[in-house]
Amino acid sequence: MRFFLDTANVEQIREVKELGLLDGVTTNPTIMAREGGDWRTQAERICSLVDGPVSLEVIATTHEEMIKEAKDLVSFGENVVVKIPLIAEGLKAMRELAERGIRVNATLVFSPAQALLAAKLGAAYVSPFVGRLDGLSQSGMECVEQIRTMFDNYDFKTQILVASVRHPLHVLDAALIGADVVTLPYATLTQLIRHPLTDSGLAAFLSDWEAYQKG
Ligand code: E4P
Repeated sequence: MRFFLDTANVEQIREVKELGLLDGVTTNPTIMAREGGDWRTQAERICSLVDGPVSLEVIATTHEEMIKEAKDLVSFGENVVVKIPLIAEGLKAMRELAERGIRVNATLVFSPAQALLAAKLGAAYVSPFVGRLDGLSQSGMECVEQIRTMFDNYDFKTQILVASVRHPLHVLDAALIGADVVTLPYATLTQLIRHPLTDSGLAAFLSDWEAYQKG
């Protein structure tokens, strides 16, 4: 399973890259706006820092405008994947972009049926938003499970990118289902690393060793 970081923060990206755990990055308009400054400079920085796919999202809501924006976004780097929202206009854009060889991440996916449409149109990734579904008392992971079954049934090459991740259990469940990618907020990645028993175990080992050295 590949790990993407769901952030536009360069320090966070750098840190996770140094850990060797960075396979890609996803952004969205909210995430980009959170960083402030000039979004173009930020996008360029991210694309050159990441050795893997970087999802940049369109703001347009008509397919003509989406195509125009997509052409601009791919100029930031060869690793750009264009994020297109799963609306009717977005579907038109997805097909056209796929035909032009531009990789698309179908975003704001909340049902297996929506994921099926994006896969049929050649999207490289579909992003089911599990945390937001859970927030409405609908199972995000059930959605991911059904997408996995459909894609396997028809041998779709579209990758399942689990998004809107809220906690480590989402990551574990996504891995058990066989999702291709999970995109993590920095905080969730940190939660995955740390365990109180690891910390207390290490402290005990070190103090026992120190006592032994002192004789
Ligand atoms: C995915 O690509 C999105 O950027 C992200 O996961 C959105 O999730 P949120 O529900 O935390 O905003």
